[in-house]
Amino acid sequence: MTPVTALSVASEIYPLIKTGGLADVAGALPSALLRHGITMRTLVPGYPAVMAGIESALPVHSFSMLFGGPARLLTAHKGNLELLVLDAPHLYNRPGSPYSAPDGKDWPDNAYRFAALARTAAEIGQGLVPSFVPDLVHAHDWQAGLTAAYLRYSGKPSPATVFTVHNLAFQGQFPRELLATLGLPPGAFSVDGVEYYGSIGYMKAGLQLSDRITTVSPAYALEIQGPEAGMGLDGLLRQRSAQLTGILNGIDEAVWNPATDKRITATYDLATLSARAANTRSVRELFDLSPDPDRLLLGVISRLSWQKGLDLLLEALPVLRAERIQLALLGAGDPDLEARFKAAAEAYPGEIGVMIGYDEDLAHLIQAGADALLVPSRFEPCGLTQLCALRYGAVPVVARVGGLSDTVVDANEMAIAAGVATGVQFSPVTGDMLSAALGKTRALFADRAAWQALQRNGMSADVSWRNPAQHYAQLYRSLLASRPRSNA
Ligand code: ADP
Ligand code: GLC
Repeated sequence: MTPVTALSVASEIYPLIKTGGLADVAGALPSALLRHGITMRTLVPGYPAVMAGIESALPVHSFSMLFGGPARLLTAHKGNLELLVLDAPHLYNRPGSPYSAPDGKDWPDNAYRFAALARTAAEIGQGLVPSFVPDLVHAHDWQAGLTAAYLRYSGKPSPATVFTVHNLAFQGQFPRELLATLGLPPGAFSVDGVEYYGSIGYMKAGLQLSDRITTVSPAYALEIQGPEAGMGLDGLLRQRSAQLTGILNGIDEAVWNPATDKRITATYDLATLSARAANTRSVRELFDLSPDPDRLLLGVISRLSWQKGLDLLLEALPVLRAERIQLALLGAGDPDLEARFKAAAEAYPGEIGVMIGYDEDLAHLIQAGADALLVPSRFEPCGLTQLCALRYGAVPVVARVGGLSDTVVDANEMAIAAGVATGVQFSPVTGDMLSAALGKTRALFADRAAWQALQRNGMSADVSWRNPAQHYAQLYRSLLASRPRSNA
């Protein structure tokens, strides 16, 4: 096994800073790749949470001016994660989320904030840090999309590039007037470069200019080549389909393990499944739900956005209530959805419990206590909560889209007979079909043996990083073998 060194470039990384699944993936991939002979370091922006959480930081480079101010590149670690941190206070030292101000509006200088990340990644790829010159740079989502552009237009020898799409809905488009300030030559502004419908497209640049493209499930890899999920980039993705692969995400088994999880009331595994009931009781208490173990307890852990389809659950509330299903929802996002769920909880106390916010501990407890976990997304590149649900014995009820369709085996007659069913899928993604799926789930729950079979099948499924890491390692190696090593 020839050793490979790779630089991963991501705008968030668990456990330092997380707004969604990208952080989980960026945080878990390096250690999963290690056993395949791949040493990965990750470049991340020095947001306050990152600067406060890193250990043994050492400056390895100073920039006198990086998009409007001085900056430093630090090497650091967090647990097993080897990091390069871009400490650029004028770009990152501010409250709010990585992408938006506390009032919810995108930071007005996002074009520069993430160009700085990408340009630094490109420079590391070309030898900025002599002790770490990667064979390959793996950039994630639009925030890292310009990496391949800076490499391409530098005219210098470059490492191999891989670009992963985690969500095509966020594309990072900025006015063409920024081109020179971004440090890109006029020639970069073409259909073969960063130009996208008259603007500069960061996601587009990554898709156009990287050696290989991956996305986070085989189904989504196909979907984004069509007009609906392709969101304007389907033509380019069809053109580059020979370079595009779908590799499913895994979950970090050290973080998500019901047998050792310190965030839940009672630990359990396949052999001690009945111990799970203590977690179910805790969820009911926390969400003020009536203590009725015969009722199905449905969990939701989600960003509240159009993508996640939770407005359909509001439509399906009459069926939810008719089936006597209880709901424990943890989520945050769209203020209108937040308000409607809060109103539902007030209208139906004891039946519907809602917590608005972001709470990592509570997410674990819901996985450990809910009978079923609902993910009714309109599109879902991979989805991680259904993978956690499988591992924790919460039966996933999911829309048949993207990674949800690839990871949950629907409890149809044949799958049940073959002993492979792990959850319930519904399609098309409408309130009516979701209502029907809730009815079906309730009927399965009534048959305790059938239900336990679903739980056991799910808990036995491999949702780890083992297979995905092997796929990435193969992809890296075949890419490196296919191109002359041009990195000095
Ligand atoms: P996405 O990245 O599109 O939001 P994923 O399913 O890939 O969806 O990843 C979501 C991640 O964020 C999971 O780890 C999930 O547990 C977590 N998560 C989502 N919403 C919340 C919340 N309100 N509180 C705690 N964790 C959450
Ligand atoms: C995005 C997608 C989600 C995926 C995650 C990690 O946030 O919405 O489906 O699981 O990235 O790849």
